[in-house]
Amino acid sequence: MKKITIAIDGHSSCGKSTMAKDLAREVGYIYIDSGAMYRCCTLFAMQQGLIAPDGSIDEAAFQRRMSEVQVSFRLNPETGRPDTYLNGENVEAQIRTMEVSSHVSPVAALPFVRAAMTAQQQQMGQEGGIVMDGRDIGTAVFPHAEMKVFVTASDEIRAQRRYDELVGKGEKADFQAVLANLRERDRIDSTRAVAPLRQAEDALVLDNSHLTIEQQKQWLLDRFHELTAAS
Ligand code: CDP
Repeated sequence: MKKITIAIDGHSSCGKSTMAKDLAREVGYIYIDSGAMYRCCTLFAMQQGLIAPDGSIDEAAFQRRMSEVQVSFRLNPETGRPDTYLNGENVEAQIRTMEVSSHVSPVAALPFVRAAMTAQQQQMGQEGGIVMDGRDIGTAVFPHAEMKVFVTASDEIRAQRRYDELVGKGEKADFQAVLANLRERDRIDSTRAVAPLRQAEDALVLDNSHLTIEQQKQWLLDRFHELTAAS
C-alpha cells in the first residue's frame, strides 16, 4: 500500500505529539516533531548568546549562523520514542524547559529560521510514510499531505496537561505561568507573517478537550484507515 503523508497541526500543548507518535508507531511510519526543531533553534541561539536577557534577538548574527543548526532524531531504546539531537548532542530534556518555551515563538517567527527548518522537514518527508506535527505542516510544509488533522482543546485543559507534564519531569512549574505562556505562544504563532498557525481548509478537526489518550488514538486510526482504504 502506498505510504501517505500525515500532517497534524494545532495549538500549543494540545497533545498533538502524543497523538502523532502513537499513530506513527501503530501504522509503522516515521514521526517528526517539528516543534522540537524550532526548540533546537532557540536553544542554539540561547547557548550562543544571541538572545539577550530582555528577549531581544541578534537577528543578523543568528542568520549568519543558521546553517550551523542541524537537527536529527534517534530512537531511544529505553523509552521507545525518538530523542532530539542538536548538532549530534542529545538535547531532548533541555529543549522542553519553560525557558526555551518562553523564547521559542519569537524565534520561530523569523523568516530565515522557518526557511531552514521547512527545508529540513521537506527533506525528511520526501518519501512519504511520515507523521509530522506542528503549526504549519498542512498549510506550508506539506500542503499536499493526504491526511491533515487540526487539533485543539480549551486553554485551561491544555495548560493543565502541560503543567502535569512539567511537574512529572520534576520541573518546578506554576500553573498561571504555563497558561500565560501557551496563550502568548498561540498569539504569536497565529499572527506571524510567515506560515502562521491556521487550520488548513481540507483538515479534519479534532477538539480533544474531553477525550482520553486512548479515544483520540482510536479516532485518528479510524480516520487513517478510512482514508487509506479509499485511496
Ligand atoms: O509542545 P507545544 O505543542 O506547546 O509546542 P511545540 O510543538 O514544541 O512547538 C514549540 C513552538 O515552535 C511553537 O509554539 C511555535 O512557536 C513553534 N513551531 C512553529 O512555529 N512551527 C511548527 N511547525 C512547529 C512549532
